[in-house]
Amino acid sequence: MTASLDADLDRAAPLLAVLDGVRQSVPPLWLMRQAGRYLPEYREIRAKAANFIEFCFTPKLALEATLQPIRRFGFDAAILFSDILVMPEALGQKVSFAEGEGPQLPPLEGAAGIAALRDEPDWARLAPVFETVSRARAALSERTALIGFCGAPWTVASYMIAGHGTPEQAPARLFALREPEAFQRLIDLLVEGSAAYLVKQIDAGADAAQIFDSWAGVLPGEEFRRWCVEPVRGIAARVRKARPGARIIAFPRMVGSRIADFADVAGLSAIGLDTAADPVFAAKVLPQRLALQGHLDPLALMAGGARLDQAIDEVLRAFSGRPHIFNLGHGILPTTPIAHVEQLVKRVRGS
Ligand code: CP3
Repeated sequence: MTASLDADLDRAAPLLAVLDGVRQSVPPLWLMRQAGRYLPEYREIRAKAANFIEFCFTPKLALEATLQPIRRFGFDAAILFSDILVMPEALGQKVSFAEGEGPQLPPLEGAAGIAALRDEPDWARLAPVFETVSRARAALSERTALIGFCGAPWTVASYMIAGHGTPEQAPARLFALREPEAFQRLIDLLVEGSAAYLVKQIDAGADAAQIFDSWAGVLPGEEFRRWCVEPVRGIAARVRKARPGARIIAFPRMVGSRIADFADVAGLSAIGLDTAADPVFAAKVLPQRLALQGHLDPLALMAGGARLDQAIDEVLRAFSGRPHIFNLGHGILPTTPIAHVEQLVKRVRGS
């Protein structure tokens, strides 16, 4: 093979090939929440920031957190270090993270609370995120894809309404039942804002974008379609209209067989499957044009040993007929041993 062909091969990021529908014999690998507290080097820089949201808005620190897992493990993708809750912050709802308690926001009070939000995200507040994206893209090799992200409207709205994480998203579900028009306005605002936010991340250098719908699973039938599927469809359509080549991964968590509702969502490149998802069913109901991502149990990664090897092999086998991105079924847990992540990388890559 000539030197120039080698160079061409070296340039193509395997993760982007999969998102473009080309299965790789060794699946590209990254982990949701791969930057975070299980890494000692993350805990060290995290201690330097006054609070988590300012950490996200400080490009020097966010860039470092983005790159740390790539340096340590050589994953095939870096994911922008930020949080889905920068969007409420940019819409004028102050977000803070109480140590050990998760996010805190002043709960949105009824239709008036929604009307008081900004009409459009404060792009100046989000400017450091775009700077982090462009600096990360410049720092990474061409074989490493850079993934941007946003929260899906339903998941973000559930925090905006309740003001904190809730087990079943009951406050947001109740609000949507009692005041569907006001809730629709909030969802529409998030669709527009999130689509523009992803376009700006892509323009800053993100090669792909993931939409995290962590709480998609709690909604029944028609509400699931209205508050989860349609908003994701809306974001994908807007991003693809603005940037036709955009690669978008949707991650609707815990939706079971309703994953089938994503089969006709145009503009997606891949679907992320959670731990409990059935990959055989997903492969059957989702069209071949959609790559599948997932879905190792984060607890198997925590357990390690032979059980981890077995779980990895099951995932590899389950997706063997499909363009596949190896990932967890949800975020890596903070107490995961680093040696288990090293074991995972070795086994997936067969080295
Ligand atoms: O994947 C990555 O490494 C990129 C960074 C990232 C974070 N959060 C960093 C973070 C991403 C993609 C997210 C997404 C996110 N944030 C989601 C969707 C995915 C999921 O896990 O379901 C949700 C629901 C949030 C909201 C959020 N942010 C919660 C509920 C919490 C607290 C959880 C906890 O364990 O404390 C956060 C904080 C947060 N976001 C941390 C990190 C590394 C921990 C805060 C810290 O380091 O002090």
